[in-house]
Amino acid sequence: MSDTDVATPTLPLDRGASPLDPPVEYARWRAEGPIRRVALPHGPVHWLVTRYDDIRAVLAHPAVSSDITREGFPNVRAGTVTRAPGSFILMDDPDHSLIRRMVTRTFMLKNVERMRPRLRQITDRLLDELAERPQPADLVANFALPFPSLVICELFGVPYADREVFQRTTKVLVDLTATIDEINAARDTIMDYLLGLLEEKERNPGDDLFSELTVQRIRTGELTPEQAAGIGTLLLAAGHETTANMIGLSTVALLRHPDQLQRLLAEPESVPAAVDELLRYLTIVHNGLRRIALEDFEVGGVTVKAGDGLVIPLQSANRDPAVYDLPDELDLSRAARNHLAFGYGVHQCLGQPLARAELQIALPALFQRFPDLTVAVPYEEIAFRRQTGVYGITELPVTW
Ligand code: HEM
Repeated sequence: MSDTDVATPTLPLDRGASPLDPPVEYARWRAEGPIRRVALPHGPVHWLVTRYDDIRAVLAHPAVSSDITREGFPNVRAGTVTRAPGSFILMDDPDHSLIRRMVTRTFMLKNVERMRPRLRQITDRLLDELAERPQPADLVANFALPFPSLVICELFGVPYADREVFQRTTKVLVDLTATIDEINAARDTIMDYLLGLLEEKERNPGDDLFSELTVQRIRTGELTPEQAAGIGTLLLAAGHETTANMIGLSTVALLRHPDQLQRLLAEPESVPAAVDELLRYLTIVHNGLRRIALEDFEVGGVTVKAGDGLVIPLQSANRDPAVYDLPDELDLSRAARNHLAFGYGVHQCLGQPLARAELQIALPALFQRFPDLTVAVPYEEIAFRRQTGVYGITELPVTW
């Protein structure tokens, strides 16, 4: 097939009438073959890998790069893309690992486990406040978004009163319809804000991640303030958009599967597995991770050449019938922990212990507090966020 073939489909695909499921094309493409050509909206054609095993292999391949500044990288937008200093999600090893290691401790399982009582307190307080609100109330604005925002603010030492700046700017950073200029402006705003905050931490360090970066890394010359602000931008964006959208979408998915919801509430020991099944089923990082090949290698018998762009749809892997029986069913009893919703390989999600703990606490607590929780608009009218890197819900009016 030539690159100009009219049959080359263009991403992003539409979910049609089934907003909790991946676009129907993925099932067909997986059946047709392990790899195919796709176009991005501004023209260039790249490879798209369709199946679970190949997706894992590509994400773990040493000759695959995440460096968006490389010529030919499959960027979503036209124009010159710049990378914030310190944004290790867009870097390769050894630089990537060097920076990632500087912030790993906060997100380690044993440290997150210690945070559980505090996560529970924040959840309960927000649910108390929600209970006092007039109905219908927006679950996103009053619970799904403030919960992870409050958590990362405490963890990183960001005043919650300043949330507007990082919520607004990170919304732009994941918006697929935003232009390069809008992206750069949003990044400058959040970077400026964080540079100011790091100066404040220099004067007055506390017990939080940004103070730790200031005292242990900036003062020692290991990081420049700009690199630390770039790390902060990544962590702030990754730390609240994702969990917030998982809470909103999981609420809708569970209300549409009352038998599964009953199971979640009746068997507290099943909650961790249930959360992993929701992560698999919903796969909110839904538009495909992007990589560029540094050497020639094979995927399913097809040669990917050095310099070729790769699009890696995690949602296709997570609905692969070769790995999951009846993959389109939400089945909270399945063992889904091998899902790829957090990615795979060296860039696998740093915040996954925190994301899991937040969801394991927030979801049962919400339905225990409001056993009659109902979405106040018809399913067809729910405001799903489609044109974003992180799939989700903009607003969810609920009654109880
Ligand atoms: C349900 C919630 C979440 C989902 C589904 C999710 C998903 C992902 C995925 C798919 C990647 C891989 C990106 C790639 O390979 O290019 C990733 C990376 C990352 N995530 Fe998450 N994430 C979630 C929550 C969080 C949280 C709470 C944090 C904490 C601040 C976080 C921080 C990060 C960071 C820093 C990276 C980059 C890791 C690296 O490049 O080494 N994520 N996440």
